[in-house]
Amino acid sequence: MSITEATLLSWAQEHDRKSPQDILKLALGEFSNIGISFSGAEDVVLIDMAVKAGKPFRVFSLDTGRLHPETYRFIDKVRSHYGIGIELCFPEAEAVSTMVNEKGLFSFYQDTHQECCAIRKVGPLRKKLLTLDAWITGQRKDQSPGTRQSVPVVQADRAFSRPGELLAKFNPLANWSSEEVWAYIRAFEVPYNELHEKGFVSIGCEPCTRPTLPGQHEREGRWWWEEATKKECGLHVGNLDKP
Ligand code: ADX
Ligand code: SF4
Repeated sequence: MSITEATLLSWAQEHDRKSPQDILKLALGEFSNIGISFSGAEDVVLIDMAVKAGKPFRVFSLDTGRLHPETYRFIDKVRSHYGIGIELCFPEAEAVSTMVNEKGLFSFYQDTHQECCAIRKVGPLRKKLLTLDAWITGQRKDQSPGTRQSVPVVQADRAFSRPGELLAKFNPLANWSSEEVWAYIRAFEVPYNELHEKGFVSIGCEPCTRPTLPGQHEREGRWWWEEATKKECGLHVGNLDKP
């Protein structure tokens, strides 16, 4: 089905104060060809809520080749715990081999993370989104003061839309805090990534993620050698349009 910008905007306004479960119900009710973008971290709550909503949905994860072993184990645990399929998306082998053969395996520490993220994450995401009418992410406003403060619960994703066909993007957890996510995980005994027991809060690729100290913001554990305003890898490129 084809959706308009005006409809997405009106859903965003109507649902801004609604619970993540209500936002998910809207998403799953309006779109049958919809995918949850699962990073292998606390966004597992979306899968739990979607399973309980009882409507069809797809789940995909971007396997950059650089995830922690704990994250790979967790992705498989979620697959068997919920009895769902998780579609893994891989980068183009040619692009990865050109980059690492020319620049080594850790070029992001010198070059910034943009090139590596473009090859390992954004390319595969673009390919996956061409097969979907809408996607669901675990983005929250409190995840990144530098870039995510205005994330709406529903938006048009112009960066990844097919020509002439708007892609809908739902961020059901946008208004939840990290504490609310963790209260849900505990209350419903949702499985979680064992890295959270080792001091990791925000989890991405292994070389670009580190545990945070008490009092540090979770985003400080990601691409710590770069400025806070640059800490988006291109999956949520629309966040950088905002003033
Ligand atoms: S990132 O852009 O900085 O890497 P972050 O880790 O904060 O994103 O996660 C925000 C949301 O982006 C996740 O809840 C998920 O929906 C999506 N996402 C991030 N990394 C992945 C991944 N490897 N696979 C699938 N989705 C991902
Ligand atoms: Fe590459 Fe790091 Fe981006 Fe992962 S997070 S794709 S390893 S730069």
